[in-house]
Formats: sequence, structure tokens, C-alpha cells
Amino acid sequence: MIGLNRYIPDEIVEQIRASSDIVEIVSDYVRLKKQGRNYVGLCPFHNEKTPSFMVSQEKQIYRCFGCGEGGNIFSFLIKRGNLSFPEAVAVLAERSGISIPEEDDPERDARAKKTEQAYKLNELVKDFYQYVLKNHDIARGARSYLEQRGVTPETADKFQIGFAPPSWDSQINFLKKKGYSVEILEQMGFILAKTKGAPGYYDRFRNRIMFPVWNIQGKVVGFGGRVLDDSLPKYLNSPETPLFNKGHLLYGINKALESIRRLDQVIIVEGYMDVISCHQAGIENVVASLGTAFTPEQGKLLLRYTRQVVFAYDADTAGVNAAMRGWQVLDDIGCRVRVVSIPEGKDPDDYIRNHGPEQFLLLVNERALSLSDYKTDRALEKYDIYTLEGKFKIASEVIPSIINLSNEIEKDEAIMKLAKRLHLSPDAIRAEVEKNARKSRNSWGKRHKITGLRDNKTNFAQPAKSQKEEKDARSKAEETLLIMILEDKSVFSKIKGEVGVHFCSNQEYLNIINLLAEMIENGLDYQPAALFDRMPDEASAGVLSELMAKETPADNKVKIIQDCLKTIREDEIRKKREDLLRQMEEADRNRDQNLRNQLLLEYSKLI
Ligand code: UTP
Ligand code: MN
Repeated sequence: MIGLNRYIPDEIVEQIRASSDIVEIVSDYVRLKKQGRNYVGLCPFHNEKTPSFMVSQEKQIYRCFGCGEGGNIFSFLIKRGNLSFPEAVAVLAERSGISIPEEDDPERDARAKKTEQAYKLNELVKDFYQYVLKNHDIARGARSYLEQRGVTPETADKFQIGFAPPSWDSQINFLKKKGYSVEILEQMGFILAKTKGAPGYYDRFRNRIMFPVWNIQGKVVGFGGRVLDDSLPKYLNSPETPLFNKGHLLYGINKALESIRRLDQVIIVEGYMDVISCHQAGIENVVASLGTAFTPEQGKLLLRYTRQVVFAYDADTAGVNAAMRGWQVLDDIGCRVRVVSIPEGKDPDDYIRNHGPEQFLLLVNERALSLSDYKTDRALEKYDIYTLEGKFKIASEVIPSIINLSNEIEKDEAIMKLAKRLHLSPDAIRAEVEKNARKSRNSWGKRHKITGLRDNKTNFAQPAKSQKEEKDARSKAEETLLIMILEDKSVFSKIKGEVGVHFCSNQEYLNIINLLAEMIENGLDYQPAALFDRMPDEASAGVLSELMAKETPADNKVKIIQDCLKTIREDEIRKKREDLLRQMEEADRNRDQNLRNQLLLEYSKLI
């Protein structure tokens, strides 16, 4: 496999695309059935029981009519296989036996080599700890600790749990023998410089049970180490390194992906042990944030797989306020966030051990509160509900999560509930909600950027279908013409002669036609599927996949084009007339008879 950040020339990308088949690639992930000209199957991007996922071999694109995901072979591998663009290209290159030429960039090569070395080092250290835990006498205490906590040897293997020996230099000696310099060992957080006595280094992790932390591709990027007794700190984690960035990682995500997707839900817990316990009990859609509040990056990671998020936290967690800000982050980027407090001050690990997995799932699925309900409960504990100030504080903590509810009925219910608990009128709360919503709408563009999602996906209250149905004749005509150009480039010149290039009236269509025009006019030959890689934003790519998934009737093409052009021309004229009428009113108001007559003359020409 080649490095991660290399540049691959366009011709090579095209060559690779041309020699790959989307049906073959998608079939690795989805059972496809031939249906007419296309293939259909269950969508791998959302949970569904009847197939609405379509793959066109002819056009080399895919599209889901349920969730709106769509794109070409590269975007499929990027989204479904968690690959970067160069990685996706590399995977396809390997499959079709095309080699990607090496290109000289010493700096980049050095960086790639260093990253490679860092991954290797983490892998090696993981093996070392695992070996010690399984085989070494000094790990006897660690083995019985795990046993006493109910971690089976199979689970320990699955989570690659290990043990760091109690000595000050066993890792440094082992790794130096393997040829690693103290610089990289220090940079990757395995050793620390001595601050006293003779200069030198010592091992960071000593006498701890070691939990490797993986990135989404399952590569070890760092560690958490737990003491065997009550000493502090309970856990020691790798420091921030080029590979280990806590705010971007979720413990266990690589092992949870399949289950998250299948169940369309993720359970977020606090600790390493909670994730491990859940998996051992057969609950696999579980990840942990690494002892920090949730970040938008972590949210983005999850959004690719599900929107249903349940936080299962210890009821009296000290950091619940900080955690709540993290939950709000997820809520803001469009997840449906619920929260369940585990009773008796227990964490999921304790709870499952005492009550079994079924009871735990019952809590998660039946007892979880919406974020606004949960916030109301917490705020009611914190503030005095009988003072005006108290009511105000409670309301201002709860309202942000009410605003985010995309469903009007849910929103109304949340408003009523809050009003009742605060002994205020629903109208007063509703007014506050509207006021705050207006404020946050101004920052909506930002929210959009965080998720990179289209509005119709963020907003469940507004499914793509109803928008489509409302489409007026003008956009129908534009749509049909675009579909026809996508199918047959020669249609473009006919249309251009009649209504020009910029005949589209919405931004996504304009983005598409501009790109098409640029490629066609420059005589560039391209496969339609290649257009996805050049779309300026996700929204346009989504619309493009929608267009490509549609077909125009094979016969009467000329007539269809003429009808569409007529619709567009008539719409243009209608707009011009409206504009002239507006100007005439203006002229009337200004008592400008001359101008009015002139406008009237123009107007009559248009009828
Ligand atoms: P907890 O204290 O809840 O630990 O911390 P736990 O996972 O339940 O572990 P056990 O059951 O006592 O063995 C939750 C998470 O917070 C981070 C770790 O990621 C831990 O799993 N943490 C906690 C630290 O990073 N450092 C600490 O000192 C404590
Ligand atoms: Mn615990």
C-alpha cells in the first residue's frame, strides 16, 4: 500500500476508474440483484428492510433513494470503506494491476516514512505488552486482576490487552534493540526524559494493564494504562502525538462499526472497561470517548454511520456538566441524542455484571431521556424553580436542545413539558424558543460546514421527497435537460444555442452545468461518474447522483428537449413581465409618464 498523502496524476485516476467496475466493488459490501438495467440491494449507508439502493453499471454510479447517498466508485470506497481519496485510488489500482508512478517529493516521502514507522512502533509495543501479559511471571497479578473483573482470555485477546512491566527500562531497552531512536520513542510517548540525576530516559508505562487505542481503520495509535490497585492516576494515557489525538478518536469504533450500522444506533460510554464489558456481553454498538468531552470531530466520525446516539453514563459522574456540552455538540450537528443515567451510581460495566446485558439494553432503549428532558432534570436540581432567576436559568439551559428538535410535534411537546415544570405559560417558552432559534439560524451556515451535510439530510422533518414533489415546471425542465446532457454530451450544444449555458435557477444545478460546460467546451473526454470528484460541495454531489440515477424516456428526445426549452423560455418571459410590472408601478408612484409608456411598450411586446 502506498503512502497516505500522495498526489496521483489525473490521467492515472481516470485510467484506474475506467478499468474498475462499481458493481464488482459494491458487491463486496452489498448483495446486489439485477433489476432491469440496474442492480439493487439494501443500502449500506442506512438501515432498511426493503432495497432502495441502486447501482448503475452503465453510468458507474450508485444512489440510495431512501437516504440520498450517492456517488461514484471512489466516493463509495471513501464513505463505506473509510478510506481517503488516495487510499481508494490505491485499492482500485491494486485490484486492476495498475501501478501508480512514484513521484519525487523527498519531504513527503520522509513524512510518509515517519508515519509508517510510528504505526509500526505502536504495533510492536502492543505485541510486547500482550506477550508479557500472556506469558510472563511478572504479569501474574495482572492476569488475576482481569480474571477477577470477569474479562475472559478471549476478550483480552480481542481487545489486545497487555501488561507493561513494573521496571523503569524494559520498554526502552526492548525498543532500542529493535532499532528505534530515543527521539521517536519520546515523541510517541513511550519514554520520558529524566529530570533528576544522570541524563537519560525511563519508561512512561509501568506496572499497568495496557489497552491499545485504535483509529477507525483498526491501527494502534496509542495506549491507556490502568493501575492494578487504587493508586493514582487510575489511567495513564499516551500523550498527544501525531497519531494520538484524543479529540478525534473514539475507543472501540473500529470494532463497533458493523453493529452501529446494523442497529442504526451507537451507545457511548465513558470508559475502556465499559466498552470491553459490553462487547463481552454481546452488545457491540458501543464506543467510549477518551475521558474528554465530545468534540465535533468525534461527532462527524459517528454521523457517517448513524444519527441515533445514546449516552450511557454513570449517574453521579463528577464531570456531567462538561459532558453535557459534548452532548449538545452532537445534538447541534444533527444527531438525535438521548441520555440514560445508570442507576445506583454504577457504570455500564458494573451494571452489566450485576444485572446482565438484557437489563442494560432495557435501560438504553426504554429509559433514555431526550437531551432536553435530561437537561431539565439536571437544571431543576441545580436552580431554585420558585424564583424568576431560577426559571430563567433553567429555560436558558434547556432551550438550545429544544431548538434542535427537527420534528415540530416533538418540539411542541418539549415546550409544553418545560412550561409545565416551570409553571409558565407555553407561549412564554415558545417565544423564547423562537427568539433563540432566530439567533442560531444565523450561524446555520457554520453548522452546515461542520457536518458537510445537505439540509434535507440534517432535517428529518423535511424529507427529500416532498421537496421534489413541489418542484415547479421550470426546475423540472432544467432537471430533464441536465439528465439528458449527462446521458449525451451532444445535447449540450443544442441547448446552449437556445437558452445559453446558465439556464439553471438553483445553485446545485448551476454548479453541475458549469462543470459540464467547462469540460465539454474544452473538449475533455470524461466518464460521467468522474464528475463527482470535481463537485464543489456535498450538496451538489448529492443532486448530481440524483440526476444520474434518473433516466429519460428513450423515444421522442427532440420533442422533450423542445418542451423543456419552451418551459424555460416562458418562465424567463414571465419573470421579465413581472419585473416590468414592478418598474411600471414604481414609475406610477414617481409620476414618470414617459418611463411608464416606454415600459408599457416593452411589456406589450412580451405578450
Ligand atoms: P472511570 O474512572 O469511569 O474508569 O473513567 P473505568 O473505565 O470505569 O475503569 P474501571 O472500571 O475503574 O477500571 C472513565 C474513563 O476516563 C478516562 C479513561 O478513558 C477511563 O476509561 N480516565 C479516567 C483517564 O484517562 N484517566 C484517569 O485517571 C481516569
Ligand atoms: Mn468502571
